[in-house]
Amino acid sequence: MQSRTWIAVLSCAALLLAALVAWSAGLFSSPPAPLVESPEAVAAGQAVFAYRCTPCHQDVPLARRVAGWSVERAYQTIGRLPQVPRANMPAFPGTEDDRRALAAFLAALGAGRAQQP
Ligand code: HEC
Repeated sequence: MQSRTWIAVLSCAALLLAALVAWSAGLFSSPPAPLVESPEAVAAGQAVFAYRCTPCHQDVPLARRVAGWSVERAYQTIGRLPQVPRANMPAFPGTEDDRRALAAFLAALGAGRAQQP
């Protein structure tokens, strides 16, 4: 092979290697989507709430307790339900998607844009 061909081959190999390193470093993976209160998320979250939380929370209304909460704050709280004092809540057992939807629902509930099922 001619030396120019070699240079081309080596350049391609170097590019491939760089791409592989970037990929393994997570450069191409998309960051987690931001938490948003879309009507779809609120509706999905309301269904999750009805299934997972209503057995206790029909007697413990939440609208006033979550008044003014951001979706982020609700998301964080769902991650540590057992630490809420006097509540005796189990850890949230749902999926990440369910948790995000539930957070959107709680924020909407606290803002008066959703009703507790
Ligand atoms: C075992 C019963 C039980 C279950 C199940 C339960 N909760 Fe609770 N939760 C409570 C009680 C009781 C309180 C009120 C504690 C108090 O008096 O302040 C509470 C309080 C809360 C609060 C208020 C926290 C604060 O900082 O004031 C949030 C938010 C909440 N629950 C969300 C949920 C969500 C979301 C679910 C479903 C994934 C859930 N809970 C399931 C019993 C429960």
